[in-house]
Amino acid sequence: MSSWVAPAEQGCLYCHNPANFAEDSKYTKLVARRMVEMTRHINKDWQPHVSATGVTCYTCHRGQPVPKEIWFKANHQPYGSNFMGDKAGQNEPAKVVNLSSLPNDPFTPFLLGAQNIRVGGTTALPAGNNQSIKQAEWTYGLMTHMSTSLGVNCTYCHNTQSFVSWKGNPPQRATAWYGIRMARDLNKDYMEPLTDTFPAHRKGELGDVAKVNCATCHQGAYKPLNGAKMAKDFPELGGQTEVTSTTVASK
Ligand code: HEC
Ligand code: HEC
Ligand code: HEC
Ligand code: HEC
Repeated sequence: MSSWVAPAEQGCLYCHNPANFAEDSKYTKLVARRMVEMTRHINKDWQPHVSATGVTCYTCHRGQPVPKEIWFKANHQPYGSNFMGDKAGQNEPAKVVNLSSLPNDPFTPFLLGAQNIRVGGTTALPAGNNQSIKQAEWTYGLMTHMSTSLGVNCTYCHNTQSFVSWKGNPPQRATAWYGIRMARDLNKDYMEPLTDTFPAHRKGELGDVAKVNCATCHQGAYKPLNGAKMAKDFPELGGQTEVTSTTVASK
């Protein structure tokens, strides 16, 4: 954990008081304990996404206390005067949406909230047909983030004859579907409840805690670290040791 997360010059002291390793006085130790639980949860309960490849602290942290790719709620600037409404972070070119004019925070609705990721209703009549233009714009924002985080284009997951249809789609779309639910689950059940544990200087403009998106693990690769099997050597982190004939025989 020290080499995965702590700054080299601090090592153990980044989380511990050396006079008493059992003491919980540093916030980093409290966060680290919850992170151990989160990593176990990913490796055990999100196998439809991470399979036996799994994750360790390094998948997100890469030797840094703060992972390179995190997100905060955007502090949307209103138009010139407030009565013209919220421009929803549009025309504020942001890296997450590849500098397009799409809303610059597609994460709050989809990776924290559970809005429908849709561009249109499925029926002509209003009942069940309440998809808004905003939802469509957020959807394209999220899709742009997903593509750039994995270093792929839309056809990696979609049959572009119809983006709505699941027919004839590559299996990666289903993996991605679980990835969206997993990121939402991690943000809601692990990151947000740590809000009061983090000091103010680690939080966003709106006082929210740093959160996870596809890029936190993937960092531009179709599989994090190009598919290196991260968890297998760490059963304490919920990693599944691959059962080979030799290990079975030796038991
Ligand atoms: C990223 C934070 C972090 C770093 C760095 C870290 N630890 Fe820990 N350490 C923890 C956490 C969290 C626990 C408690 C686990 C629990 O209670 O479930 C712990 C527990 C311990 C314990 C057991 C204390 C007890 O309760 O009896 C010892 C001993 C310990 N660490 C030593 C070290 C040493 C030595 C290093 C440096 C090589 C180190 N730790 C680096 C987070 C860290
Ligand atoms: C899914 C990605 C992910 C994994 C896996 C993960 N972390 Fe984190 N971690 C985060 C995010 C996001 C933050 C919030 C960043 C911040 O501190 O502002 C964070 C913050 C931390 C912090 C506080 C850093 C600071 O200086 O504020 C510690 C300590 C930490 N993690 C330890 C761990 C340990 C130990 C593991 C493995 C057992 C681990 N993390 C696994 C995403 C992850
Ligand atoms: C990594 C896989 C992946 C990539 C890459 C991807 N998508 Fe998606 N897309 C999905 C998944 C999964 C859903 C369904 C989300 C859900 O229902 O939760 C979806 C849904 C959509 C929808 C909504 C369809 C509906 O039912 O209304 C549109 C439109 C869309 N994607 C367009 C795109 C575009 C355009 C790109 C390229 C910029 C793209 N996608 C890239 C996986 C992907
Ligand atoms: C906690 C870390 C983590 C997060 C967050 C994460 N992924 Fe993944 N993802 C993985 C791991 C690990 C694999 C490799 C699984 C394997 O080897 O089959 C993977 C594999 C995938 C694959 C399959 C690639 C292939 O070619 O088989 C897709 C697609 C994917 N992720 C999309 C996403 C999307 C979209 C998001 C965000 C909504 C996301 N992931 C968030 C860890 C993560």
